[in-house]
Amino acid sequence: MSNTRFKFLLEPGSIGRVKTKNRLIKTAQGSSVIEPDTGFVGERALNYYENLIQGGVGLMIVESCGVEYPLGTHHPPVQFRLHDDVLIPSFSKLSAVAHKYDCPIFIQLIHSGPWNPTGLRTAANARCSSTLKKAELPGPDFLETRAMTLDEVAMVQQMFINAAERACKAGFDGVEINTATCTLPNSFCSRVFNRRQDQYGPDTLENRARFDTEIISAIKKKLPAEFAVSVITNIAEYGHPLATPIEEGLQIALLLEKAGADAVQVRGHYYGHRDGLMHPDRFYYPELPDNLPKDLDWSNRGQGALLPYASALKKAGITVPVIAAARLDPVLGEQALRDGVIDFVGMTRRLLADPELPRKVIENRLEDIRPCLGCLHCMDVRLQNKYVECRVNPQINREKVVTYSRAAMKKKVMVIGSGPAGLEAARVAAIRGHEVYLYEKYTGLGGLIPLAALLKDVEVNEMTDLVKWFEVQFKKLGVNLRLGRQADAAEVEQLKPDVIIVAAGGQHALPAFSDSQKVKMLTSGDLHKRLKPFLKFFSPRTLAKLTKIWLPVGKKVVVIGSRIHGCETAEFLTKRHRQVTIIDTAGPDAFGEGMTGDDKYLLFPWFNKKGVKNYQGVKIEKLVENKLTLTTQDGQKLTLKADTFITALPLLPNTTVMETFKGKAAEVYFVGDCLEPRLIAQATAAGSLAAHQI
Ligand SMILES: Cc1cc2nc3c(=O)[nH]c(=O)nc-3n(C[C@H](O)[C@H](O)[C@H](O)COP(=O)(O)O)c2cc1C
Ligand code: SF4
Repeated sequence: MSNTRFKFLLEPGSIGRVKTKNRLIKTAQGSSVIEPDTGFVGERALNYYENLIQGGVGLMIVESCGVEYPLGTHHPPVQFRLHDDVLIPSFSKLSAVAHKYDCPIFIQLIHSGPWNPTGLRTAANARCSSTLKKAELPGPDFLETRAMTLDEVAMVQQMFINAAERACKAGFDGVEINTATCTLPNSFCSRVFNRRQDQYGPDTLENRARFDTEIISAIKKKLPAEFAVSVITNIAEYGHPLATPIEEGLQIALLLEKAGADAVQVRGHYYGHRDGLMHPDRFYYPELPDNLPKDLDWSNRGQGALLPYASALKKAGITVPVIAAARLDPVLGEQALRDGVIDFVGMTRRLLADPELPRKVIENRLEDIRPCLGCLHCMDVRLQNKYVECRVNPQINREKVVTYSRAAMKKKVMVIGSGPAGLEAARVAAIRGHEVYLYEKYTGLGGLIPLAALLKDVEVNEMTDLVKWFEVQFKKLGVNLRLGRQADAAEVEQLKPDVIIVAAGGQHALPAFSDSQKVKMLTSGDLHKRLKPFLKFFSPRTLAKLTKIWLPVGKKVVVIGSRIHGCETAEFLTKRHRQVTIIDTAGPDAFGEGMTGDDKYLLFPWFNKKGVKNYQGVKIEKLVENKLTLTTQDGQKLTLKADTFITALPLLPNTTVMETFKGKAAEVYFVGDCLEPRLIAQATAAGSLAAHQI
């Protein structure tokens, strides 16, 4: 292998008798791509997985797959399941796809037990190690439970064994048993759930692990030696008095190894945090809490946070390969492999953002890897049982539409605006062989991205990296940049494009009472204009720091608008010690609209803690000088005094720009906010789809 920089990452490996061509594992990640009515692997799932596999990953672990259905799944009806022999032939097609690319394939076996993070399960009396009433459950994301009898224990263990056998018959190379997070197997391992008084009870570690160890040894005994069994387990838990401490979690992992597990993937769980510890990087949103899980590495904004679990497991004497995920990238992963901390690098989000990542590492083209924002939009849609999608990669779940196929005829394409829609449209059009001219009225690329990065405290570097990534791609693809140039009818006349893609962004909305001249009001448009010149000289991260010293808005601020824009503005100001009140004429449902469910779950209590007041469904009476009079939803008259009123309303379609360019070329497409203001994911997809139509 000529690539010495990633010598360890690109080295072949093995899990049991399964050989991998490199040390990169695509970890399990729910996608909702299964055929919901039948549970069959259909075209959608095959296309989706083929796209993720073809980029060169060393091992694919297919998403969590129920061993019992629907009771054992938390995403019915869109969750994979292998509870019935009838499913085997369709699953064989999936393993065949992986093997076509010389990629071994495992599937993660799960029984959700009491866990209900989606809130979509209605089943009462969920299976669990013990009976737990509502008040005894470790949070709202659980169903009341009923203790399994010994017969039931044996029956569910058999379900795991049967599902593994079906996976084997379907050509899979192994299974990953999910005994982590809050699954049914974890309800035995963790004393948070386990109150039993038999051989599966919490009195010894052996008894706690017995549910798993018996499954593992039975699978190993029953299936061919070539078939691997990996496990993913909580090395430590937090947020509950009975949570598993690291010393116990390590011993449980060793017992799983002793039972025959061929590899161990480390995970932790935090009761009370909806995401547990799957994505430690999101602990930084909106601010790092005081009660951080102590055993993790918090030095790198959550990147590689779980690596100390792996080190501890090595020190405890594990001999089978250890896998860790959590925001690892090729560089960090290589280092961890080199240091002997892990044997395989687990990744999910970076591979969704760019399935070609392994190939680009092999070819030493790190600058071509599309950065993942870490935004968890993918998880958010999954939690709603929708098809998984990625904010930056519109090809996910559109594999047969976003093909980057060469265009039949080369055309001159004028792209107007360099926000997410324009950037992606220009890139895709150029890949397809067109001659592309990208116009941006400011001197820097990105549209509202740098401003969004400035307002956010998370994803700042990632968003900046995304714009840089486009810059690099444009250079390589020969996209002609026309920066600092306002595209207008005269430019069109001069350029004579065959195609115009208008991605000029939306219009900043003004509240109805904005005609009041004497009001100290800052509109989102003003804010954009004021900050944009600074972004020429400072990165969003630096500018964000500078605004902590200088921000001429006074002490008290009223933010008008409560959707994502309003919430982010309020968060930004609160972090700069401003006294913030949010108001909106829209009702309570609008609060936080556009944010992920997880972010809302974290932000709203934070607002409460910081004293941010919020009034939804208000009627604004008048705004004079520094006083706003309104009637609240419950009919109270209220006067809010502020030094500044900031509007942060959703953008409006840009009808002016649409009129300007309508009919000015043989093909004209309007995409992104100028047509229908929405979020980055939709804008990027719209840009890509328009560029595929040319
Ligand atoms: C949309 C989504 C779905 C996921 N589904 C699963 C799952 O089914 N089983 C599981 O063990 N982990 C699941 N994960 C967690 C990933 O396997 C991985 O541990 C996590 O994303 C951290 O790795 P990363 O930072 O490389 O994304 C999911 C993650 C995402 C983003
Ligand atoms: S949706 Fe966001 S977090 Fe998920 S893979 Fe895409 S960029 Fe990364």
